[in-house]
Parts: sequence; structure tokens; C-alpha cells
Amino acid sequence: MQREGSGSGEDVTILAIESSCDETAAAVVRNGREVLSNIIASQIDLHTVYGGVVPEIASRKHIEKIDQVIAEALRTADRTLQDMDAVAVTYGPGLVGALLVGVSAAKAISFASGIPLIGVHHIEGHISANYIENKDLEPPFVCLVVSGGHSHLVIVRDYGIYEILGRTRDDAAGEAFDKVARAIGLGYPGGPKIDRVSREGNPDAIKFPRAKVADAVYDFSFSGLKSAVLNYLNSCEMKGIPVCQADVAASFQKAVVDVLVEHSMLAVETCGLHKFAIAGGVASNSALRSALERACTERGIAFYHPSPVMCTDNAAMIGAAAYYEYQSGVRHGYDLNAVPNLKLGENLHSLLDSCG
Ligand code: KG4
Ligand code: ZN
Repeated sequence: MQREGSGSGEDVTILAIESSCDETAAAVVRNGREVLSNIIASQIDLHTVYGGVVPEIASRKHIEKIDQVIAEALRTADRTLQDMDAVAVTYGPGLVGALLVGVSAAKAISFASGIPLIGVHHIEGHISANYIENKDLEPPFVCLVVSGGHSHLVIVRDYGIYEILGRTRDDAAGEAFDKVARAIGLGYPGGPKIDRVSREGNPDAIKFPRAKVADAVYDFSFSGLKSAVLNYLNSCEMKGIPVCQADVAASFQKAVVDVLVEHSMLAVETCGLHKFAIAGGVASNSALRSALERACTERGIAFYHPSPVMCTDNAAMIGAAAYYEYQSGVRHGYDLNAVPNLKLGENLHSLLDSCG
């Protein structure tokens, strides 16, 4: 990776590619905030029969779709490759075979057309989705990132500068939604189904645990909650008590939402920042959004959230993140590789010092 001089102040148009999991996506984004096109080919139907994403199938499908999706993104934006200032791609974290498809496509485009290549961190993309629909949002702010693979509480100090306050010790929030959905017979993808079914259930019907991590107030742990749901289902079965799917879904969802809201508000208050954003697939959860909206309003904190389609995987968010990387001079070479466990800024100690 190299750093070049910062941007010239002219318009910057970026072709962005995302293929870290089960969505093949490409977008054209101008100046980090204006989406000229956002094409997403979802593989959800393919993986549903297996109850989750099958990595090998995901990679193969990305290969079939990627050229089409990129061409459609350029066509919809009414642009050609010659109009692009850079090509950006998610290079981690994610499924290695899936990531490699996007990374290879971006490298080929960069090589063939001579435009710079920018590798983007997937989570940085999720966070940056907030810039697209909230034109006034600027760092610093606190962001709760909750996706299928990650649960992080992050301080966005500046564009591209992140400090991790807390993270999950075990399952990510989305993973917990998906596993519980499978256990109560809702199938994959679990998050949106639990969200929907919960509207008919009583969130106070079953008292599930709200886990705290003793030595790390901002960390999350969802595996105990998942086990509590499984134990509840087993004990109902053993006693011959019928299970109300909607009540289990709503009670589980409330337990997750309570913990996410409590930790988020603690972070915002402790760090003295008055802006709070959410990101990642679980950020599209309706109960979480309304609980956070309420909590922020009560505390006089500005609440930012992408629209649901910008919360789940897409390439527009990668284009938004890439713009700020481009402006700070980041350029990658053709040795850019997929990094399945790529970490976001790990500056825990300086953060704890600054927040007390
Ligand atoms: O961010 P994302 O699209 O992919 C990853 O980077 O992981 O997040 C996918 C996750 C899945 O676990 C899915 O079940 C969850 O987000 N999800 C939801 C909702 N929509 C998607 N979880 C709860 N409620 C939703 N409405
Ligand atoms: Zn994601």
C-alpha cells in the first residue's frame, strides 16, 4: 500500500466492488456521498436450502455474476471505466474465496484501465454507509457495528481512523439472530425473519439473560443468550409445553436490543460525543432502530442510521469509504490480497485512556 498526495478538490468518481459474503455488488459513487448506481445480486435463495452461506457456492456464484454486476453499475450510472478516478474493492474481512473474486476483478480493471486500486475494509464500508444518506454527518461519532460476522462499538475519530471500544467475545449479533431463527424453525436468513415474527410476539413473555462481560463494559457476549433459548426450547419439548414462536423471537430480540442499547449509550455518554450511528445488517432491525432512536432522543444525541438496504452488504458503502481513503492518498498495488480476518484499528489502550 502506498500514500499519494491528497485529493485535488475536483469531483472523484469511484467504481466500488463488494463480494465478501453472499452478495455480488458493484456501485458508482461520486465524492463519497452521492450514489450514481448501486447494483446487488443476492445469493440468498441459493443458500437458503442449506440453512446458511456455503462458501464454495458463494465463490462460484460471484464468479458467474461479477462482470455482469460491474457492467450494470457503470451502465446505470451512465459512465464508462474511463470516467472512473479509482476502483475500490473489499479485501477483508470475509470469506476468502468470495473476497478473492472481487479483489481479482478490481485488480484486472485497475491494470487494464490504469486507474488506481483501493482496498477497503468491509466494516469501514458499513460505517461509511452512514455518510451516504446523512450528508451532514462528520466524525467524530460513536458507531455500533452489528453484522453477521461482527459486533463492534467503535469511535470514528476521523475519516479512516477508528478506535475499538468493545467487541463480541463469541457470536456476532447477526450470527445469534441466524442461529436462534434456525432453532425456532424460521430458517435462513434469520435476522429479517425474527424481526418480522417478533411483531406478533410478547417481548416480555420469556426472561432471557442480558450478558455482561465483567472486565470489559463495552464488550458483548451472545452465546449464553443463544444457549438460554435452546435450553428453553428443550425444556418445553420435554415437558410437552407448546412453544410460541413469536414470543420466543420477540423475547430473544428484546434481550439483544437491550444489551446493544445499554452498551451504546454508555459509550456515547462516557466519551462525551453527541453523535451516534449504527451500521451492519442487524442495524436494519426495526426494534433496535426504534429503541436507539428513543434512547438518543432522551439524551439529546443525534442518531444516524442508513436505510435498511444500505445496512446490509452493498458496494455503495465501499465506494463511500474508498473516497476518504483516496483523499488521504491511499493506493494499493497489484499485490493486494484477500485478508479473511482483516482487523479494524485496534487502539484499545489509547481509547480507554481517553474515555476514562
Ligand atoms: O452486514 P451483513 O449484510 O453481512 C455481514 O457483513 O455479515 O449482515 C448480515 C446479518 C445476518 O446475520 C442477518 O440475519 C442480519 O444481518 N440481519 C438482521 C436483519 N436484517 C439482516 N438481523 C436482525 N434484524 C434484521 N432486520
Ligand atoms: Zn457486511
